[in-house]
Amino acid sequence: MNASATPPLQKFFAPCPRGLETVLFEELTELGAQHVGPTDGGVAFQGTFTLGYRVCLWSRIASRVLWQLAVDEYRSEEDIFSLAREIEWPQLFSPQHTIRVQVDAIRSPVTSLEFVTLRVKDAIVDSFRAAGEDRPSVNTSMPDMRIHVFLTTHTATVYLDLAGEALFKRGYRREGLAAPLRENLAAGMLALKGWKAQMPLFDPMCGSGTILTEAAMIAMGLAPGAQRPFAFEKMLNFQADDFHAMREAAASAGKPLPEGLLFGNDRDAEAVDTTRRHLQNIGGEANAARVVLTNVAMETLDSPAPNGLLLTNPPYGERLDDLADLKLWYPVVGTWLKQTMAGWKACFITADRALPGGIGFKPSKRTPLFNGALDCRLFEFELYSGSRRERPAGEAPKINE
Ligand SMILES: C[S@@+](CC[C@H](N)C(=O)[O-])C[C@H]1O[C@@H](n2cnc3c(N)ncnc32)[C@H](O)[C@@H]1O
Repeated sequence: MNASATPPLQKFFAPCPRGLETVLFEELTELGAQHVGPTDGGVAFQGTFTLGYRVCLWSRIASRVLWQLAVDEYRSEEDIFSLAREIEWPQLFSPQHTIRVQVDAIRSPVTSLEFVTLRVKDAIVDSFRAAGEDRPSVNTSMPDMRIHVFLTTHTATVYLDLAGEALFKRGYRREGLAAPLRENLAAGMLALKGWKAQMPLFDPMCGSGTILTEAAMIAMGLAPGAQRPFAFEKMLNFQADDFHAMREAAASAGKPLPEGLLFGNDRDAEAVDTTRRHLQNIGGEANAARVVLTNVAMETLDSPAPNGLLLTNPPYGERLDDLADLKLWYPVVGTWLKQTMAGWKACFITADRALPGGIGFKPSKRTPLFNGALDCRLFEFELYSGSRRERPAGEAPKINE
């Protein structure tokens, strides 16, 4: 291809749950992104449009893919209006598509973000009117096009969201139990722990099975976005042939789930049913049947394999009486880990900082992560097998014996 035929590079920003920027950086690099730069809460990158599509289809960790349309310094709301008014909106989408403008700011001098939202919407409407077209209407719950404006002290950036609905909405969750993890947080934790389907994974309190379902998709090589539509499919510059080829390649890349890899449990029978349905939704019945699911209290279970990764999201104890229950239950968890799970690495994501003290283990790592707005820690415990003498030389015992 000669240089003049090379498609131009576009600038993108992929937000993600805070704490996952480094693993998103690695994922985007693997997907072919260029000039990749992590910041707080997301990763900036460059690439062609086709790369933007690929990230929407294949990123397990990004929450969205925002395409940068304009950026400039500003002093007032009117500067932001002018910046948005310079964009040729009628070339991007048709007036039949509904819009939503969202403005986020860090240390911005503007007094009202609602007013900025209104002025950016006015700029879009003016742009359609000036082109002799109808005006698009606003839909705040299910818009076709999401326009994001990000303000810092001096700079305003206008983005159009390629994803549409957030990317953690994969399409497999068809009924909700209380308190599910965000899908991209579950996938991000697997990436943080380096899980690539090479060792057994066990979620003994699986709830609706988010961790197991994300793990099954990784093990089967399934694209997380294979079952959902994207906003870019409605954009006027949509390169349909490129995307259809990408979807077809993704559909034919899937492989069967290995036996003896994924193990789940929940004491709630409805949770186990939901987990099974989610696994069926992504991989069909035969693959879902290869995940061993049980329905008992975790502390009565035997270890499903000599070693592996235990990754789970225990109840948090949001109410005071729940907290009292947790205090009584944590030592039971500690005993079970010590007696049953030696040889495993155990990771718990929780908003309760008292978990390590409660179970009586010293974490080898604690990673701050956000589950939505909830400020959590991912605690990692190495459960060495055998006696203290078998631990690596110089390593302090991790279990308070
Ligand atoms: C916060 S939810 C897990 C949510 C899950 N990560 C998801 O994405 O849907 C905690 C789960 O732990 C289960 N649970 C609580 N105590 C348990 C125990 N002792 N044994 C097994 N499951 C338990 C609850 O039934 C609940 O489904």
